[in-house]
Amino acid sequence: MFSPLYSVFSALLLALNLSVTAAPVKFLAFAPTIITPNSSTVWTSGNSGSVSWVTNDVPTEAQNYTLTILLGRLNNGSENLDITNPLATRVPIMQGSVTVPVPANLTYATDYVVAVIGDSGDISSCFTIVPASNASVALH
Ligand SMILES: *[C@@H]1O[C@H](CO)[C@@H](O)[C@H](O)[C@H]1NC(C)=O
Ligand SMILES: *[C@@H]1O[C@H](CO)[C@@H](O)[C@H](O)[C@H]1NC(C)=O
Ligand SMILES: *[C@@H]1O[C@H](CO)[C@@H](O)[C@H](O)[C@H]1NC(C)=O
Ligand SMILES: *[C@@H]1O[C@H](CO)[C@@H](O)[C@H](O)[C@H]1NC(C)=O
Repeated sequence: MFSPLYSVFSALLLALNLSVTAAPVKFLAFAPTIITPNSSTVWTSGNSGSVSWVTNDVPTEAQNYTLTILLGRLNNGSENLDITNPLATRVPIMQGSVTVPVPANLTYATDYVVAVIGDSGDISSCFTIVPASNASVALH
C-alpha cells in the first residue's frame, strides 16, 4: 500500500523552495497545468499511461525545466504521493507529455492522482486504475 505520506507534496515544494531561495538567482515558481490523467481517465495496472500538460504558457525562464511525475491516492485531503517510486523523472517540460509505466501491483480505486512537479507542481483530478485481471470493473 502507499505509505501515509501526509503533506509530502507541501514538504517537497518547501524543500525545493528553500534550496532555490538559498541560491543567488531569482526564484520562479511555475506549475504546469495537467491535461491528462483527468476524471475520465482509466489506467490499467501493469500497462502504460499517458501524462500530459499545457506547454503554451510556460515562461521562457522555465522552458529548460525538467519534471518529476508521481502517483498518489487522495485520502482525506492528502495526496499520499509515492515519492519512492516516481512514474518518471527528468522529463523536459516542453515535451508536453510522457508515457509512463503503471505499476503492476495496484488495486482498483477511483482516487488515484498524478503530481507533475518542476519547481512547483500541479495535482491531477482523481482518476481510476484497474488491475489487469479485472479491467471490466471500469465498465460497471
Ligand atoms: C508496489 O511495489 C513497490 C515496489 O516494490 C512498492 O514500493 C509499493 O509500495 C507497492 N505499491 C502498492 C500499492 O502495494
Ligand atoms: C481528459 O483526458 C482525455 C484523454 O485521456 C483527453 O482526451 C481529454 O481532452 C481530457 N479532458 C480534459 C478536460 O482535458
Ligand atoms: C536553456 O538551454 C539552452 C541550451 O542549453 C540555453 O541556450 C538557454 O539559455 C537556456 N535557457 C534558460 C532560460 O536557461
Ligand atoms: C481526516 O483529517 C482530519 C483533519 O486533519 C482528521 O481530524 C481526521 O481524523 C482524518 N480522518 C481520517 C479518517 O484519517
